[in-house]
Order: sequence, then structure tokens, then C-alpha cells
Amino acid sequence: MPDNFLPFSKPCISQAAKDEVSACLSSGWITTGPRVQAFEKALTNYLQAPFVSALATATAGLHLSLLSMGLQPGDEVITTPLTFVATLNVIALCGAKPVLVDIDDTYNMDVSQVEAAITSDTKVILPVHLTGLPVDLDSLYTLAQKYDLRILEDAAQAIGTHYKGRPIGSFGDTQVFSFHPNKNMTTGEGGCISSSDESLMQQVNILKFHGIDKNAWDRYGKKGNQHYDVPMPGYKYNMMDIQAALGIHQLAALENFIQQRTRIAERYLEKLADWPQITLPQLPTSYQYRHSWHLFAIKINEDAAKMNRDTFMQKMVEKGIGTGLHYEPPHLYRYYRETFGFKVGDYPKAEDTGSRIVSLPLFADMTLTEQDRVISAMAEIFEQCGEHTQNRLYAKNSEHSGPGLQPGGGLAFAK
Ligand SMILES: Cc1ncc(COP(=O)(O)O)c(C=O)c1O
Repeated sequence: MPDNFLPFSKPCISQAAKDEVSACLSSGWITTGPRVQAFEKALTNYLQAPFVSALATATAGLHLSLLSMGLQPGDEVITTPLTFVATLNVIALCGAKPVLVDIDDTYNMDVSQVEAAITSDTKVILPVHLTGLPVDLDSLYTLAQKYDLRILEDAAQAIGTHYKGRPIGSFGDTQVFSFHPNKNMTTGEGGCISSSDESLMQQVNILKFHGIDKNAWDRYGKKGNQHYDVPMPGYKYNMMDIQAALGIHQLAALENFIQQRTRIAERYLEKLADWPQITLPQLPTSYQYRHSWHLFAIKINEDAAKMNRDTFMQKMVEKGIGTGLHYEPPHLYRYYRETFGFKVGDYPKAEDTGSRIVSLPLFADMTLTEQDRVISAMAEIFEQCGEHTQNRLYAKNSEHSGPGLQPGGGLAFAK
């Protein structure tokens, strides 16, 4: 592999952020404390959100949101089959059932299919703003009102995304954002919940720290009194000050990061237009939005490219370029097939997309020279690869019982 490997994503961390982390480490207080409080305040301002709670991860945020919405075993949650498995895992961890509706051409949940999926057991609709592109939320909030449902937006990829002129997080029910290192801003690991529901947020704040009704800073700080009560058993999902030290500076730089990502994404759209070997991301025309360009995900057109997605990814690695796979449809993982009876063919668009999707390198301080390297590598790969033909990734007649490598390098899911 060449020395100058270009990753598909990398964080952009300023000297000021490094100094803040160092100051935190020297301060004597490194877990949840004043820097988390300051970060939550900054997030509240940025998102224009009524209430914000910082957490260890977005997965923790999704889990606590569902628990605080009162999700019970036997309840149903409507979501998408093209997402990171965490979205489905948190539903299953609450003992509830994920009910999926297929995606549309934008990779997001097809909102026109949601009403037909509602049953008397439905409690929550869980749209995912995949790649940083917002789902068409108005119709979902109308359904939520009509059927008395909660909406939890998985905005893990969507900090800085706007829908109809408003930031995701500034309106609606409840949203969860991720600050994982490949996201538009990072705290190492980390996440937050924003919500308009004060009582949900009170419950989240208790559940995120053992069920204790006071935070550690209040207990150990100068004003502290070390007694507390435990109204319910909770989790250990709190964010640390070390993470918040990084987050405060990342958040201050976020608008700039999004501008830089947008420039790279728009240049991909322009330079890769009309390549028959790929399908570019499809963008909605029926509503207004600001894409935060967390991912630039294309689909490989196997016939024209004369290769499948995994072969393409392998060839990019050989040229010293990383790409990302977001995502294989999680309903086809073993647990979900065995527990809920999902099978190949249930969600044809998500499965087709999941077998062909690949994220190209995109990060805030990516240079145009680096981007040109990606585009030239793709051109060379498609030019040289005319000679071999590869199998489709989801081979229906495969003897594999779950996802696994095919002889051609692709993944196979058996029915
Ligand atoms: C759509 C989606 N949901 C949830 C998560 C989980 O986020 P975290 O890693 O912060 O727990 C991710 C992270 O990749 C994601 O992309």
C-alpha cells in the first residue's frame, strides 16, 4: 500500500482544541463537569434547541430517548433498512420490534410508505437523516400528530443539516447527534440529544448517570453535598470533560467544516457527472434543505463498471485511497433475520443500494489535489477493468447463511 494513503475520512483538530484538552487534563477535573456544561450550552445555541444533553455516544442517546419515550417490549418502531446497525440495535435492546419501510432514491426512508406501516403497536417513527441529507419531516410530523406517535430523528450524521430553513434539532420532537471521529465534528466518541420535551430530558439526565438525581460536578464541586437519591436504575452514558474540551472547539469550527465539505461534494457532483459506471447521490427537489455532506456516497453500476462495489473498494485501496461502506442493510444481519424473520427481497431498494453503495473520501481539510487523486484513480480503475466481470453482491442462490465473502470478493446474503 502506498505511504501516502488517503483515508475516506479524518478529523480536523485545531491547536486551540488540543490546548483545551491539555488544559482539561491539567485541571484536576476530567470527567463530566464544567466543560460538558459549557459544551451543552454551546450546542443549545448552535442547534437552537430547547434542551440538550451531552452523552458518551449517539447510540446511548438513541437508547435513552427510546426508553424515555416509554418504549416497552412488544411496541413497534418504524425506521429504515439503510442505516448503521445501531439504529436497529437500540430498538431491539428495548425489547421492541423494528418495522422497516424501504428507501427512496435519496437513500432516505420513503416517507410515502410510512402510514401503511403504522399499527396499533406503533409507538415511535425513527427517521435517519442519512449522509447529512434531511428526511422530508413535515409528512412524518403530520402522521405523528394523527396517530399520536413520537418521532425520534437519528441525526447521527446530520449536525448542521437544515430542513426548510431550520436546523435539525431546532424543531420537532427529539433528535440524536453523533460526534464519532468520522462525523462532521468530533469529541473522540460522543453524542447528544436535543428535545423539545422537558420531562423526557429530565429522565435522560437521570438515566445517563446510574439513575442518580444529581450530577457529579454538583456533588463534588465547591457547593456540593454528596447525598443523592436514585429514582430509577440508570446507565453510565455520560460525556467526559476531556471530550467536551474537544467538542467546544469543533463546534465553533463546524460551519467552516460544512462549507469546506460542501465545496468538495459539489466538485465531485460536477467532475463525476455522467460517468456511466456510477450513480451520483440523488437530491430531493420537492423541499428545501441544507445538506451537511457528512458522506458523499455513490452507487457502482455493475454492468457499466464491469465490477462490483467490493472490487472497486479493493482497487481503490491498492491505489492508496480509502472508501467507506454505509451501509449493508442491517435487517439481513443474522440476529435480525433470526429474531424478526427478515429476508433477502424484503426491501429491494435498500438491498440494491446496500450492495452498490460506496462513500468517497470527504473531510473538511481535504485538498483539491487529494480530490483529483481520487477522481483519477477512479478513472484508471474503470478504464482498466473492462476485462473482468464480477458477481452481484447479494447472490440469492448462495449457500451462505448470512453476510460473507463470495469468491468474487462480494458479500452474499442467502434467503
Ligand atoms: C445513522 C447512525 N446512527 C447511529 C450511529 C451511532 O453513533 P455513535 O457511534 O456515536 O454511537 C451512527 C454512527 O455511525 C450512525 O451513522
